[in-house]
Amino acid sequence: MKTKIADLEFEPLIKADALDKRIKELGQQINADYQHCIPVFIGVLNGSFLFIADLIKQIDIPCEITFTKLASYYGGTTSSLKIRDDIDFSVDITGREVLIIEDIVDTGNTAHYLLEKLKLKQPLSIRVCSLLLKPAALLTKIEELKYVGFEIEKDFVVGYGLDYKEMGRNLKDIYRKV
Ligand code: IMP
Repeated sequence: MKTKIADLEFEPLIKADALDKRIKELGQQINADYQHCIPVFIGVLNGSFLFIADLIKQIDIPCEITFTKLASYYGGTTSSLKIRDDIDFSVDITGREVLIIEDIVDTGNTAHYLLEKLKLKQPLSIRVCSLLLKPAALLTKIEELKYVGFEIEKDFVVGYGLDYKEMGRNLKDIYRKV
């Protein structure tokens, strides 16, 4: 069923049960890949807050979880190159195996920026897990993007943590702009 958020109309794209199933698969893969160490998961707020919570519940190896905040959209529907930076977390990642958890990789600018900043702290390894990827929108190839939930078209999406003008984050399904 279509839904309206502010001035825009959206239609369902990925249902909650499909999200649930795919996140379980990602969790299993991450458990297997990181069983040799105690990884540090860095959740990128705000858009990934539901994804982080659901993914972390699937992780059954010892791990540390911390958060950072970055934003490049400023309430619109196209990616702004300007990145608002709010990197601040207590875990020392030097020599650690790090997995960044993102809601969506669109142009790739945010992931690239974060990776470059975190690499300066000399982690042992660093990878990215993103729930969504828009391959047609990518401007920078992200070699570290190891886990992707769903590849989607170059549409603007909301729901399951993702917002339009700060609204729609509470929707259980993911919707795309009509
Ligand atoms: P990028 O830097 O262009 O890859 O964009 C990354 C950030 O932009 C994401 O973490 C989101 O916060 C936001 N973003 C990108 N695409 C969408 C979308 O379709 N809906 C809502 N937010 C988006």
